[in-house]
Amino acid sequence: MGGFAEIDWNRIWRETRQQRTCKAKGSQDWDRKAASFARRNRQSPYIDHLLTIINPEPTATVLDVGAGPGTLAIPMARRVRQVTALDFSTRMLEELTVGAAAAGLGNITTVRAAWEDDWSALGLVPHDIAVASRSLAVDDLEAALVKLNHFARQRVYLTDRVGAGPFDPEVFAAVGRTFESGPDYIITLNLLYSLGIHARVDFIPAEYSACYASRAEAVDSLIWMLEELQPGEAEKFETYLAERLSCQVDGTWTVARRHRPLWAVLWWEKE
Ligand SMILES: C[S@@+](CC[C@H](N)C(=O)[O-])C[C@H]1O[C@@H](n2cnc3c(N)ncnc32)[C@H](O)[C@@H]1O
Repeated sequence: MGGFAEIDWNRIWRETRQQRTCKAKGSQDWDRKAASFARRNRQSPYIDHLLTIINPEPTATVLDVGAGPGTLAIPMARRVRQVTALDFSTRMLEELTVGAAAAGLGNITTVRAAWEDDWSALGLVPHDIAVASRSLAVDDLEAALVKLNHFARQRVYLTDRVGAGPFDPEVFAAVGRTFESGPDYIITLNLLYSLGIHARVDFIPAEYSACYASRAEAVDSLIWMLEELQPGEAEKFETYLAERLSCQVDGTWTVARRHRPLWAVLWWEKE
């Protein structure tokens, strides 16, 4: 085999993560984002597309890692026997529980845990299908992939960024910052290969213009991308808003983006 077999993709992932502009968010950051994330992602073409790709059997049990407010877990639970939704954010799981009750679903179990925790010690057992949708926020990618693979009996699905993923490099450029997007799916694909897993790859276009219930929510979400505005950036940010933010006839607000965000779906069957 050529020298490429020796490439340490886990190290490349970790180093690329350290260089990225948007640093890791803890469970409290996700807690704060839970309500607006839930509202914004209630109707999501991305989720419809992902469900079409997964096409689960009605008898399946599904483990959803980084389930958030149930954007996938709730529509998934309508189609399968049982869903376990794992997330480290209490507020996200609260949103999920409220959403599941409103949908009349009694087949979702929530588990509050981080990627890094010992899931077996929490009583978690392998499910037919394991999914990690837009939730691969880990430093040790290899450990996360091995764990996800272990907790699946039949198939594993994960979605990962392509390039900047959901971040808009133009927002950073607008306030005068350089933007390093961090690792994307090509590292994950190679790391899987080094683990002997030959994953298939699909792509899902993310929404082009994010839609928000109010102007304040749209602005909050953009500022969240920047973490916080630094002195001297406010005026530039206002100029960006004036150019890109618009109110629709139905009263919702949209942000026009030139970069179309794309997600990669990596999936494989267990031997
Ligand atoms: C972008 S949301 C994705 C939610 C849902 N899977 C979807 O695709 O709509 C990412 C979720 O991953 C969770 N998350 C991030 N880092 C995590 C970690 N280290 N352990 C467990 N959950 C984590 C966050 O709390 C958040 O709910």
